[in-house]
Amino acid sequence: MSEAIGRVRADLAGADPVVRRSDRADFQCNAALALAKRLGVEPRDLATDIAGALDLDGQTVVAAAAPSGPGFLNVTVTDHAVWEQVAARLRDLRLGTGAPEGGRRTVVDYSAPNIAKEMHVGHLRTTIIGDSLARVLDFLGADVVRQNHLGDWGTQFGMLIQYLDEHPDATWHHDELDEGASAVSALNDLYRSARAEFDADPDFADRSRARVVALQAGDPDTVAVWRGIVTESERSFRAIYDRLTVLLTAEDSVGESFYNPVLADTVDELVAAGLAVESEGALVFHSNEVSGPEGKPAALVVRKSDGGYGYDTTDLATIRHRVRELGADRLVYVTDSRQSLHFQLVFEAARRAGWLTDDTSAEHVAYGTILGPDGTPFKTRAGGTVRLVDLLDAAVTRARAVVVEKNPDLDAAELDRIAESAGIAAVKYADLSTSRVKDYSFDVDRMVSFTGNTGVYLQYAHARISSILRNAGDPDTTVDPTTALHPAERDLVLTLDAHDAVLTEVAATLEPHRLCGHLYEVARAFTAFYEACPVLKADEPVRGNRLALCRLTARTLGHGLDLLGIAAPERM
Ligand code: ARG
Repeated sequence: MSEAIGRVRADLAGADPVVRRSDRADFQCNAALALAKRLGVEPRDLATDIAGALDLDGQTVVAAAAPSGPGFLNVTVTDHAVWEQVAARLRDLRLGTGAPEGGRRTVVDYSAPNIAKEMHVGHLRTTIIGDSLARVLDFLGADVVRQNHLGDWGTQFGMLIQYLDEHPDATWHHDELDEGASAVSALNDLYRSARAEFDADPDFADRSRARVVALQAGDPDTVAVWRGIVTESERSFRAIYDRLTVLLTAEDSVGESFYNPVLADTVDELVAAGLAVESEGALVFHSNEVSGPEGKPAALVVRKSDGGYGYDTTDLATIRHRVRELGADRLVYVTDSRQSLHFQLVFEAARRAGWLTDDTSAEHVAYGTILGPDGTPFKTRAGGTVRLVDLLDAAVTRARAVVVEKNPDLDAAELDRIAESAGIAAVKYADLSTSRVKDYSFDVDRMVSFTGNTGVYLQYAHARISSILRNAGDPDTTVDPTTALHPAERDLVLTLDAHDAVLTEVAATLEPHRLCGHLYEVARAFTAFYEACPVLKADEPVRGNRLALCRLTARTLGHGLDLLGIAAPERM
């Protein structure tokens, strides 16, 4: 295409032909629209000239090119080229995907639950979105460093440790709990009791404050209890991570406490750079870019008036550390959109401090809120926050009912396995498939449906294709490129072919819903193909070609689901 452009005007040689997939033809070339202005001609005339300059004799790829509309060029590719593409994709384990993120050191900060508190519905999105992004970036060649910024530091621990010290009978260690009970759930309850005592008894409050001082000063007994609390909480988080098949490991846990020793130094650097100034006893950073209430610049509290450091300072330290020590080129923070201002200010301060340079990007991957089924804030009947485990259990229970209905003969163990996989897939996919800045309703019935844009539908599509291949005896796939192509086959191949472009887009925009949309299109194109084109009953070589298409579809779906962190079982 770009050669044809060069034949029309030598000075346009090498111009981007701007070829995109199109509804009206296989592809559309939009170059004429952009170039006509430069030449001072009508786009439609230029499109006609480019079409005329195409030498289609002996062409194996382009079958036809015709001007359309105000200056598009509709391009149809040959049947031969389409089949060759299927064969090439099947030969390539990467399904035609390059490595556009090659070597880019990318730190992805996600999940980050708080120690001694149960993971709740609010931690679902960061965990799922962050994990999927880490997978996609890694696949595209980035050198991904996952960071779980656990909330493991702060004055609240003084209260809890003091309470545990004064109530030696309180049970929270997994050794002492019933099978299946979660330590973090026990700690969460104890924390609530500690809080109540703190509010009711000024002496206990004093002892708790002393305990904070002891913790910060590194008193061995206090630190030992704190460490136990962290370990037990992480153990409970791990159970959820395993269930969600999230990649985070113990090595990825680099919580707030990790930065404690470098906070003073971080603040000193800001002061030296003139970026932190005194305000009512505290040290603050004033934004040049964002204004807050009454038109005053928005601010970060770098050091509180009592000399302590908070969330803002810790996040300044994360940037400094990740750039200097981890050598990051790209920083990604996955938290809900209510923290947008926080990250905007932190990034600004880090730029002005010189920690972030033009070569390093910092991005806040913001997401909306999960609402209840009725579209109002998600609460339990009693009005509390919804625990993540309960939510996952609810989805698995619903999935089980749907699976049994579809497949009543499954044995119990198989049913358990499929229900768990389908329920988790349902939750993850419902989350990942909504444009992430939007709020969405947690509607279990909709998300476990076998029809529509759901994780279960995609898993089922994958399982169905696997069963077709099994019934054919899992043959070696051979493609005969001289076979005539059915329109439904053409549509399926061209849809599959977008895989690489979609993944590249996800890496650039950090929006997993684009991958979900693509996989849904693939599954739909497959359904249309399967309705129109018999596979097992067809004669050779058509049968072989169609089986090859089945295999490429199954592989593409399986690969895409894997990058979403969703299992693709072969049977359902
Ligand atoms: N622990 C925080 C919370 O539960 C999230 C931390 C996100 N990461 C960060 N670097 N600030 O809201």
